Parts: sequence; C-alpha cells; structure tokens
Amino acid sequence: MTSPRRTIPDAPLIAAATGSVPSRQPVWFMRQAGRSLPEYRKAREGIGMLDACFRPDLLADITCQPVRRHDVDAAILFSDIVVPLKAAGVDVDIVPGRGPVMGKAVTTKSDVDNLPVLDHEVSHVAEGIGIILEELQPAQALIGFVGAPFTLASYLVEGGPSKNHCATKALMHAEPEIWHALMRKITDTVIRFLRTQVDAGIDCMQLFDSWAGYLTAADYRRHVLPYSAEILATVDGVIPRIHFGVTTGELLAPMSTAGAEVMGVDWRVPLDQAARRIFDASGAKVLQGNLDPAMLFAGEQVMEEEIGRIHREAASAMANGTASGHIFNLGHGVLPDTDPDAVTRAVELIHEL
Ligand code: CP3
Repeated sequence: MTSPRRTIPDAPLIAAATGSVPSRQPVWFMRQAGRSLPEYRKAREGIGMLDACFRPDLLADITCQPVRRHDVDAAILFSDIVVPLKAAGVDVDIVPGRGPVMGKAVTTKSDVDNLPVLDHEVSHVAEGIGIILEELQPAQALIGFVGAPFTLASYLVEGGPSKNHCATKALMHAEPEIWHALMRKITDTVIRFLRTQVDAGIDCMQLFDSWAGYLTAADYRRHVLPYSAEILATVDGVIPRIHFGVTTGELLAPMSTAGAEVMGVDWRVPLDQAARRIFDASGAKVLQGNLDPAMLFAGEQVMEEEIGRIHREAASAMANGTASGHIFNLGHGVLPDTDPDAVTRAVELIHEL
C-alpha cells in the first residue's frame, strides 16, 4: 500500500517543527476543538464523547471546525487519550465535567494480567483521518496524538481523575514489578494506536503526558521516561514529534531526552528559561507554547502584550542558540467557556508577529 501521507514541508507548522524558517508564525491551540465552539456543541448533541471519537464523519467534522473558524495552522485529531484503551476493550467512559472513568481500577497483578492490549488497527479513526486530509489545505498540518503511559496509568490505577495521583505513585514505589508490567502493556497499546494514525497519514504527533508534572525528576527518569521514549522512537524520522505535560518546569530536561523535536511548555515557565533547561540536557529544540489560557478572558490589550512577551522570549532563545524554532500555542488547553472570538483574535495577533 502506498502511504497516504502528504508531502508538506512548507506548511508553517511542519517547517517550524523541522527547524526551517516558516512562512508565517505557526499557531494552534490545545483543545481548540471542543466546548468553546457552538458548532461543536451542536455536532455533539445527544452523542457521548467516546462514541463521537469512533464516528469517522463526526470526528473529521469536529477536527476541522477550529481550522475553518480560527485559521489555525494545524488541526488536531478529535480523539481522547483513552480511545486506544476503549478500542482494546477496557471498560472506560468519559463523564462530562469529570473526565475518563474506569469500570474498575487496575491495582493488582491479576488486574494488570487481565488488561487487554490493542492489537488491531482502529479503522474508524483511520477512516476519519482520511476524510480530514481531503479537507485540509497543504499549508494546514494534521496533528495526531496519544496519551503518554504515565498519564494513562494514572487514570487506570486511580479509576478516574485524581487530585494527587497517590495510588499511582504508591504502586510505582511499592510494587515496581506490577508498575512496569502495567507500563509495558499501556505502551504497547499506545504504539499500536499511534501506528493507526501514522498509517492513515497524520503529518505530526503530540505525546500528552499531562500529569507527569506530579513526579520528581528521579521518579520520572526511572519509572516513566523509558516508555515515553520507546513510543517516540517508533516514529523517529517518520513525522515530527511534540512532547507536552502540565507543570513540567522541573521535568523539561529529562522529558527532552525522550526524543521529541518539539517541547511543549506550560505557561508557568518563560520560554527563554525553558529553552535553557532543554538545551543543557538535549541541545536546541523547537519550543511550543505558552500563553496562559486565562489570558483569552483578559481582553485584547492584555492578550496582545502577553503574545508579544512570549514572542520576544522565544526570539531571544532562538537568537542565543538555545532553541531552534517556535510554534505558538497555549500553555494548556482552551477552557470550555472561552469566547471563540477571543481565540480567533489571538490567532490573528500571532499571525501578525
Ligand atoms: O485538543 C483538541 O482539540 C483535541 C481533542 C482532545 C480531547 N482530549 C478531546 C476532549 C485532546 C488532545 C484530548 C487529550 C486528553 N484527554 C488529555 C491530554 C490533554 C490535556 O488536557 O492535558 C487528557 C488528560 C484527557 C482526559 C480527558 N478527557 C479530560 C480531563 C476530559 C475533560 C472532562 C470534562 O468534561 O471537562 C476529557 C473529555 C474531553 N476530551 C472533552 C474533549 C473535547 C470534553 C468532553 C465533551 O466535550 O463533552
């Protein structure tokens, strides 16, 4: 079979991710598809979140909604980090206002032994990606994504969203064999789901380790990093890779050694400081970020000032050689009650840089 992947080195996001000079400042926003958009709320009426992720026409339409409305430089596949678990047969649902909830928490050796592993293509997602690629222009990249094993392990072990990830960290330390068996199985599932997306033609990928920031650097290195690195290695040289987590200021150095070309930075760390931490561990990489999502509520003047500050910090890191590019984004996802016109205006301001 010939690959459906497009050749779009001049798409601004792909140019920046591969260290070339983009024709304009690329920008996309995490959670750009979702409840901030009236067209999203309408499309989702009466349809469960996870059901939506397995309907090719619907997932394709929702993926393209923010590209049509905001003129962002990339679409991100409408899916969720628990979709590969669901496709593997894990009893998981997404509860509105809460997030992923498991039928039963995975805490013992026999729970891990019984955890199914994804061993097939997720054909509905592959089909949806085909539809998205027909709509996107050559300047618009399609970003696929997967959740990283630590973040997925937290949902599995805690049985749902967690404030402090206590059971997860306790298992990691008290039962390292069970922990590593669990991470092994999740990693295999994630790699299989990533392959579905890559085979279907995604242009770039992001590994979301949203909750890794709860770990010490030592725990991250020992119990988490090898699995994330293994996932990223499966697409090395195939598509550009972005790696992101929240409150990962203290983890940017070890996370950068996992192998991605682009490091996502949350809003807490100025980009020039983030660049220095990454550079010292792994050499210059492309930065992604890092406008505080709350700034989309603060009015145009504040937004403009913050966008200017972030641009200057990225430019300074690029000028001193500690970063090799910048993709504009938020420091975490668009909040559900964000005014979509503020998002459109932020994109315009960023494109004027
Ligand atoms: O960024 C995008 O536009 C693509 C879509 C996307 C979703 N989930 C859709 C979604 C992405 C990239 C994700 C990843 C994801 N899912 C992460 C990592 C990113 C991050 O935010 O750190 C995590 C931790 C999850 C788990 C999850 N799924 C949570 C915490 C929630 C929110 C629960 C809620 O209702 O507030 C979900 C549900 C979810 N995933 C929604 C969307 C649009 C909201 C559900 C809805 O619209 O009904």
